[in-house]
Amino acid sequence: MEPAIKLESLTKRYSFKILALRGISMEIEHGACVGFLGPNGAGKSTTIKILTGLIRPTDGKAYLNGKDILLNKKEALSDVGCVVETPDFYTYLTPVDTLTYLGKIRGVDDLDARIEEILKLVKLEDWADTRVGSFSKGMKQRLGIGQALLHDPRLIILDEPSSGLDPKGMAEVRDLILRLKKEGKTLFISSHMLSEIQQTADKVALINKGEILAYDTVDALGKKYFTVREVTVETADPVRDAQLHAVESMAMVRAVTAENGTRLLIRFEGECDECRYDLLRGLFDAGIKVTSFVPKGLALESVYMEMIK
Ligand SMILES: Nc1ncnc2c1ncn2[C@@H]1O[C@H](COP(=O)(O)OP(=O)(O)O)[C@@H](O)[C@H]1O
Ligand SMILES: [Mg+2]
Repeated sequence: MEPAIKLESLTKRYSFKILALRGISMEIEHGACVGFLGPNGAGKSTTIKILTGLIRPTDGKAYLNGKDILLNKKEALSDVGCVVETPDFYTYLTPVDTLTYLGKIRGVDDLDARIEEILKLVKLEDWADTRVGSFSKGMKQRLGIGQALLHDPRLIILDEPSSGLDPKGMAEVRDLILRLKKEGKTLFISSHMLSEIQQTADKVALINKGEILAYDTVDALGKKYFTVREVTVETADPVRDAQLHAVESMAMVRAVTAENGTRLLIRFEGECDECRYDLLRGLFDAGIKVTSFVPKGLALESVYMEMIK
């Protein structure tokens, strides 16, 4: 079977100066939930806009369910639902109006029943007849996801579905994604937040400056890149330069930041308790009077930040 999404050396140049995508290639199999992770300006929306036929690539190919989006846009998008950037709706229409209008365009069968089902799924049933103009960003985002699901597509593409949402809105979107995942949908979800991706995705494609830096399962990436740990150390006396150097020169230590005279942030590599003990002993050997030693677990966020520098 053809993969759900296939990108081949996709390149997008907006202008002489702006090369947004530098030939990215990847494949997403059916049933996978893939997070497309990268900072602002990385090229996520550009990729998704090409995938959904909103803009054309400068070079390269994009296939959805084996169909070339450039040669066969209608067919390529027939089994795809998407929300690109923050969805906009006619403010004077209600969710029911909006979904009716979109459903008719897409030829959705048994539309009224389907709309009821969708509004329940995205928790907008109590707002079915309220004009969208008065909706919060989270409600619009949910309606956006609702419209993407209207024709029950197998592949769902969401561009930063949690951006601009409050914690409650983010949790609702996350639950919705987990539910779609359980239903066996293929999901491709962009985000600039590692934490968001970690909660839902099985695989992560890390993009920065128009290039894919890594593409693997969350577990494999964790083993490969995210074995670095962090510990916050408080000391009784200010740490001297010589002591700082002694810590920095320890084998497992990657980086030391002196937050103030008596607090150190130490990033180190290694998974076992033994390693933590060695680090602690190293601190004692350097004559540092440790009053507090608080490990932070995997420093995922900082490794991600480092990778995208
Ligand atoms: N319409 C456009 N015209 C010119 N440059 C653009 C346009 N859209 C995006 N860009 C640039 O392309 C790069 C990638 O943008 P984008 O795909 O929106 O990134 P992301 O969605 O990851 O934040 C950025 O440098 C951005 O400024
Ligand atoms: Mg974007």
